[in-house]
Amino acid sequence: MNSDTMLTVDKLEVVYKRAITAVQGISLSVARGQIVAVIGTNGAGKSTTLRAISGFIGIDDARVTDGSVTFKGQRIDNRPPHTIARLGIALVPEREKVFPNLSIAENLAAPVAARASRSERRRREELVYHFFPRLAELRARIGGLLSGGERQMLAIGSALVCHPELLLIDELSLGLAPVVVEGLMERLVQIRRELDITILLVEQSASVALAISDYGYVLENGRVVLDGDAARLKDHPEIKEFYLGQARAGDRRSYAEIKQYRRSRRWYG
Ligand SMILES: Nc1ncnc2c1ncn2[C@@H]1O[C@H](COP(=O)(O)OP(=O)(O)OP(=O)(O)O)[C@@H](O)[C@H]1O
Ligand SMILES: [Mg+2]
Repeated sequence: MNSDTMLTVDKLEVVYKRAITAVQGISLSVARGQIVAVIGTNGAGKSTTLRAISGFIGIDDARVTDGSVTFKGQRIDNRPPHTIARLGIALVPEREKVFPNLSIAENLAAPVAARASRSERRRREELVYHFFPRLAELRARIGGLLSGGERQMLAIGSALVCHPELLLIDELSLGLAPVVVEGLMERLVQIRRELDITILLVEQSASVALAISDYGYVLENGRVVLDGDAARLKDHPEIKEFYLGQARAGDRRSYAEIKQYRRSRRWYG
C-alpha cells in the first residue's frame, strides 16, 4: 500500500437482507488528491459500493460480509454513517439529495454540527456559494423547486459544509443536459484544486467521469472487470464499445465475444 493511499477497499462483499449479494469481491484504492471514477451499467454495484464505504448500507438492511474498507489506516466497514462522516467522508447520494421543503440556506445549515457558531455556519455556507454562485442567488428558494442541475449543486454543497477529506459522489450526470454536466464536472476539479479534497465518483457515463479522473474502475455484476489510468481507459476498445457508444455500424462484436475477450485478457492500464 502506497503511503499516499487514503481509501482502500479490499475484496469487498456486500449482501442485502442476508440474501442478495450485490458486490462480490471488489478491490479499489484512492490516493490522496486523486479523482477516481467507478463506472458501470445499471445494477453493477456502484451505489452499493459507495454506500458501503459511507456506512449507509445499514439503512437498507445490507452488510459488508467479507473484505474490508480502510480509510486513513482505520477499518471502517460496517461502522455507522455518522462515525464515518466524522472521520472525513461525505456522500452525495444517488437519490434524496436535498431536503425539498427547506431553503437552500437551510439545506446547507442542516449537516453542520449544532454546536457550530453562527459565524462558522455562515462561513461554510459562503464557501459553497464561492463554488456555486447560482445557489447564493437562490438561497431562499426551497430545494423542491430547484432544477436538476441546481439540485446537484446543492447536494455537493451539503457535502462540502461537512468539510470532508474524501467526497463520494453518486451519479452526478443522471438526467442532466451535457452542458450542465460539464459545468458540474469543472466545479469538481476546482473543488479538488482549491480545497484539496479527494473524490471518488460513480457514473454510468464513462466519458463524463473519465474526462476529469486520474484513474478508473469498471464494475459489472458486482465485480471489477477493468481498471487503469483514466486516459488509457478511454482508449480501451471495450470501453469505447460499451460505455462510450463509439462502435461503428457493422463492426459490433457480440456481447459473448467481448466476454470471451475479457476473460482471456484482464487489462491493466
Ligand atoms: N435495497 C436493496 N435491497 C436489495 N437489493 C438491492 C438493494 N439495492 C440494490 N440492490 C441490488 O444490488 C445490486 C447492485 O445495485 P446498485 O444500486 O449498487 O447498482 P448501481 O451500479 O448503482 O446501479 P444504477 O446505475 O442503476 O444506480 C442490484 O442487483 C440491485 O438490485
Ligand atoms: Mg446506483
